[in-house]
Amino acid sequence: MSWWWTRSLNCGEKRDEQNGAAGSSQSVGLIVGVTGIVGSSLAEILPLPGTPGGPWKVYGVARRPCPSWLSNHPIEYIQCDVSDAGDTIAKLSPLTDITHIFYVSWIGSEDCQINATMLQNIFNAVTPNAPNLKHICLQTGIKHYFGLFETDTKTEPHDSPFTEDLPRLNQPNFYHNLEDILYEETAKKGLTWSVHRPALVFGFSPCSLMNILGTLSVYAVICKHDNKPLVYPGTEASWNCYADAVDAELIAEHQIWAAVDPMAKNGAFNCNNGDVFKWKHMWKALAEKFELEMVGYEEGKEQVSMEEMMKDKGPVWDEIVRENQLVPTKLEEVGAWWFADIAFASQNLLSSMNKNKEHGFVGFRNSIKSFTSCIDKMKAYRIIP
Ligand SMILES: NC(=O)c1ccc[n+]([C@@H]2O[C@H](COP(=O)([O-])OP(=O)(O)OC[C@H]3O[C@@H](n4cnc5c(N)ncnc54)[C@H](OP(=O)(O)O)[C@@H]3O)[C@@H](O)[C@H]2O)c1
Repeated sequence: MSWWWTRSLNCGEKRDEQNGAAGSSQSVGLIVGVTGIVGSSLAEILPLPGTPGGPWKVYGVARRPCPSWLSNHPIEYIQCDVSDAGDTIAKLSPLTDITHIFYVSWIGSEDCQINATMLQNIFNAVTPNAPNLKHICLQTGIKHYFGLFETDTKTEPHDSPFTEDLPRLNQPNFYHNLEDILYEETAKKGLTWSVHRPALVFGFSPCSLMNILGTLSVYAVICKHDNKPLVYPGTEASWNCYADAVDAELIAEHQIWAAVDPMAKNGAFNCNNGDVFKWKHMWKALAEKFELEMVGYEEGKEQVSMEEMMKDKGPVWDEIVRENQLVPTKLEEVGAWWFADIAFASQNLLSSMNKNKEHGFVGFRNSIKSFTSCIDKMKAYRIIP
């Protein structure tokens, strides 16, 4: 694993001093959405010895019981529905030692009200009771620049590559609500904050509502089971255009950087792997990984909906899980087909990492290696065969 702070240590003294100072005091992180695509990487990385700002004690929150694949990490798992004010106060207000909040959750719909309530409930439960609270990392995303998936307003999206200084689009977006709560609540208490705007995330969590890589891996496994080739269902434009993505571990590193480095305070930062790829190349990597014959985009072909294609495959997935003794999952948990349909109809969604570099974050990943190593991780955790 390449660590931004390891590379920084090789480059200069400033980070040395920060690391030393931070290492002598304990930090306590609350990860809201700990089983999600980024939350699970934070749960893995924060408790490691040598993580900047540490040693870290870590609380992790989600509604479902702690999944088996997360139970190896030394975190205190808290089952709590943060959309419920009473439950949030009951479970989180006793955590008086929290110093940092990592908010990496959403309700699974783009509803502004519910998503806003969830973050507000966290502030209401934690800020009056945690006197050492310092910093809040809020994860939103690049929909900040092109609008929500579900929106019916016709506001023109920003042109890419997206930069952090672009103004908000003139349409409802729960990211705006979350940011406004963040600004208001941190200002009241003199806390610092950072907003993280990841590109498409490559991660392994089977509890994520939007895991493109998990979705494609499950698709590949079903193609193999059915003895079918791996057919690209998307548009010609999505097949040929440059795209970017971000490894979930890199976002975790990005948020830890923002939690400890003064250069990252009170700013919004894009987050991607620092390179670009084309789906035509990623598709080849996917086919090779599962030893499948590949069928790429074919001239004149319309997009085929994965949601439609996979709608009857639940029993097939159940059989694959049973035969291979995988971690029990349902197809609708591990296959976000609607999300793949959006990804394979998209183009021109690149974001700039210049502001990050100017502020000292130089972490990166090779997107193809990130893609294949997340597949390896899903196999190692027995989520796919
Ligand atoms: N995934 C991507 O590719 C991507 C890309 C760019 C931006 N983003 C943005 O990143 C943000 C976070 O999304 P994500 O994809 O990282 O999340 P995710 O993988 O879908 O995980 C969501 C997490 O939140 C928990 N959760 C949901 N509702 C909850 C509630 N009421 N109370 C407690 N926990 C709750 C879930 O566990 P339970 O269900 O068990 O509660 C899960 O741990 C969103 O704003 C999203 O738009 C995501």
